[in-house]
Amino acid sequence: MRTWLRRATTGRDEKSDAPKSSDAQPMSAAVAGINTYDFSLSDQQIARGVHRKRVGAMWDQIGKHQFDYLVEVGLQPQHRMLDVGCGALRGGIHFVRYLEPGHYYGIDVNESLLRAGLEHEVPAAGLQGRLPAENLRATSMFESDFGIPFDYALAVSVFTHLPLNHIRLCLWQLAKAMPPGGRFLATFFRAPADLPYDEPVQQVAVQTHVERDPFHYRPYELEWAGSLAGWEFTDIGDWGHPRGQQMAEFRRPG
Ligand SMILES: C[S@@+](CC[C@H](N)C(=O)[O-])C[C@H]1O[C@@H](n2cnc3c(N)ncnc32)[C@H](O)[C@@H]1O
Repeated sequence: MRTWLRRATTGRDEKSDAPKSSDAQPMSAAVAGINTYDFSLSDQQIARGVHRKRVGAMWDQIGKHQFDYLVEVGLQPQHRMLDVGCGALRGGIHFVRYLEPGHYYGIDVNESLLRAGLEHEVPAAGLQGRLPAENLRATSMFESDFGIPFDYALAVSVFTHLPLNHIRLCLWQLAKAMPPGGRFLATFFRAPADLPYDEPVQQVAVQTHVERDPFHYRPYELEWAGSLAGWEFTDIGDWGHPRGQQMAEFRRPG
């Protein structure tokens, strides 16, 4: 692991002689059996751009689309934003270019994707000096407290790979890092309300499931998950995603 990469620790193991769980295995092993992000890319793979495919490809299109959308709904250069499941910065490079230096933050469970973003994509885009390494964090618990409040948070193609308990945890963690009025935009695959609960859904390009990756949700399930941490929910729906992902907004009341 590179020394630049800030791993989140819970502090629970601090006084124990037992190795921290995060020392024993790659961070991404935390999602083994849940989704396909339990891999670690080598420097050679990153140099060949493999990370771009591993976050779903359509690098330029989906990267720019998520940026344009967040600006359209209100993101301004002086805001601070957290990119949840930021991966290799497909959207991140656009935000890093637009936001004031140091105002973009990202968390992800996969350290090698974060490394690909910081060490490969940021220099390739000519953005050195605009993204402090400390702004990126490897975490399997969505630890979102960087000591500053975020105006906006975004999760593109992340809830689509997560079971509901992970989404609950994410929303709970993020609620602590966002002030009243803070907005969290997150994409999801929609399941029709009248569909039998155990049936898969054919989306634009993939089939989604209730019990395995890629996951689909009914909006009221996301609303409920958010309500447990005090979020107000809006089902935005279509936002022009080429693979039919839908948009949900969670807002801190006040
Ligand atoms: C399809 S990629 C999208 C990445 C990025 N949002 C983008 O648009 O390029 C899904 C991302 O979610 C991350 N991820 C999956 N499970 C996660 C978890 N439990 N906690 C944090 N990140 C997770 C993956 O490592 C990966 O970077």
